[in-house]
Amino acid sequence: MSASLVIAVDGPAASGKGTIAKRLAGEFHLPMLDTGLLYRAVGQRMADLGLDLDDEQAAERVARDFALEWLVDERLRTRMAGEQASRVARFPGLRSALRQFQQDFARQPGGAVLDGRDIGTVIAPWAPVKLWIDAEVAVRANRRFRELTGRGETVVESEILADLVARDQRDAPNMQIAPNAIRLDTTDLNVEQAVAAALAMVRKRVHI
Ligand code: C5P
Repeated sequence: MSASLVIAVDGPAASGKGTIAKRLAGEFHLPMLDTGLLYRAVGQRMADLGLDLDDEQAAERVARDFALEWLVDERLRTRMAGEQASRVARFPGLRSALRQFQQDFARQPGGAVLDGRDIGTVIAPWAPVKLWIDAEVAVRANRRFRELTGRGETVVESEILADLVARDQRDAPNMQIAPNAIRLDTTDLNVEQAVAAALAMVRKRVHI
């Protein structure tokens, strides 16, 4: 493997990017960071402290105190944590407070896989491989519905769909496709097909 393989995997919620990122990390023996968890953790911390999620300064303050142990929290995988995350993620001060941690992760020797929204554009625009994973919103809603119900959460699919539509809109300013990103639409693909397609794209880009 080359000295430093950094793979940026961006795309909207429930597009399949998390699964793809995990499988790429396994295949190339790279550490992986699910950057959505950072935003979820900050939102959760604010909720736990009784802070207003619309308070930009409080959000930045909390993000500056970010600690790794915040990520060990089962609640971060819930629908509510995702909603909280996307409310606080729009604040530039919070985003910049979380930037260094992500950039250090990307710069570690040997490389890394990071999944998120702005990895290929803001966090690691220099990454040699950038994937943009997308799928039709109804398909994404169905996937998220099955994931959450599979974990025992009681959710209504139409509400998940509405969440995702609103989330896409809120996330849009910080969710740009890097000009040199390879695009993969997973709408008609099952997990194995999506992973295989992503692997083939990465191999082609870096000749491994
Ligand atoms: O990917 P995930 O659903 O865990 O992300 C939760 C929310 O965190 C997103 O909807 C988005 O608002 C925010 N986020 C972000 N930038 C990232 C990762 C997540 O703004 N790199």
